[in-house]
Amino acid sequence: MGLAFAVCDRQSVSPHSHRPIQTRAIGWSLVTFFLAPTIYLFCIRNQTEQEAPGVVAMALPVVDTDYVKEIDKARRDLRALIASKNCAPIMLRLAWHDAGTYDKSTNTGGPNGSIRNEEEYSHGSNNGLKIALDFCEEVKSKHPKITYADLYQLAGVVAVEVTGGPTIDFFPGRKDSKVSPKEGRLPNAKEGAPHLKNIFYRMGLSNKDIVALSGGHTLGRAHPERSGFEGPWTVEPLKFDNSYFVELLKGESEGLLKLPTDKALLDDPEFHRYVELYAKDEDAFFRDYAESHKKLSELGFTPRSSASKAITTDTKTLAQSAFGVAVAAAVVVLSYLYEVRKRAK
Ligand code: HEM
Repeated sequence: MGLAFAVCDRQSVSPHSHRPIQTRAIGWSLVTFFLAPTIYLFCIRNQTEQEAPGVVAMALPVVDTDYVKEIDKARRDLRALIASKNCAPIMLRLAWHDAGTYDKSTNTGGPNGSIRNEEEYSHGSNNGLKIALDFCEEVKSKHPKITYADLYQLAGVVAVEVTGGPTIDFFPGRKDSKVSPKEGRLPNAKEGAPHLKNIFYRMGLSNKDIVALSGGHTLGRAHPERSGFEGPWTVEPLKFDNSYFVELLKGESEGLLKLPTDKALLDDPEFHRYVELYAKDEDAFFRDYAESHKKLSELGFTPRSSASKAITTDTKTLAQSAFGVAVAAAVVVLSYLYEVRKRAK
């Protein structure tokens, strides 16, 4: 850069031409070429190192190429594990219960892996989820780099996909927390629509999210020893489809479960219209479900980039290319200036 200015300064003393302006412009272009990438990289670095305000005891994963590769491997292991154990429903419930404690006003709870703390998994609403935590531990031991927070959300996404549901975008980089929220943040199945709204609005979610996400009950069943309720919501509880809504509109069916909170979706007119829509249009359900699930899995978490899967992965590659462009530009400009000087002599 110093060399560029030296050449520019000498050029700018020529009295009979527009060269001073020209050369100064070239000098500034060079400065821009060198400085812009440096400033950009500096900003990205700082952003990556920031901790969420007020959050303690959290480990920030470095989402580089290796981390993204590890996520892909864990995704494959989760697919195999879920297929062999038929445990998609409980894995989805685990992801939802880790994320569903989020409180937007205090930015606490959420998908931060805190459900692994005994203090939290022994909450009454989490009965049975130790089974899913132990399944995830098998994957964690093979991919220790991945945070629990990412692992549980990845398990939820994979559970939906392998049972025939929509593809849900997954962006890694969630931090783990050792801090568990107090019991009582998850919905109570014995309540009605106002309660559902209180709970989900607290997370920052909408009426549409409430209905679409309730469609998660297309998978799995209730176990009397865990929740006091019994039975599946649909005839094929290992298939992700819109049958939860079809069954809901049919009314009571022998052997199928409807929680008070499921029935609340019929009572409230703002909910009811989505139930009707999803029962008749599975594509609309899949589209909205994928969107709401992504929102749930990212409560209180902002992926570094929504445009690329590799997130900050390619900071290094970016730096290399930016530097390459700057060097190439410098060579071109310097040869031009050299040529101009030679002719001027
Ligand atoms: C809307 C409020 C919700 C309430 C009150 C609720 C309540 C319950 C209850 C009581 C069970 C039975 C647990 C057991 O006995 O094993 C259950 C299971 C389940 N829930 Fe929910 N849930 C809600 C929302 C959701 C959401 C948003 C999802 C996912 C997106 C979800 C996914 C599941 C799954 C997959 C199961 C089956 C688990 C298994 O088979 O082991 N639930 N839920």
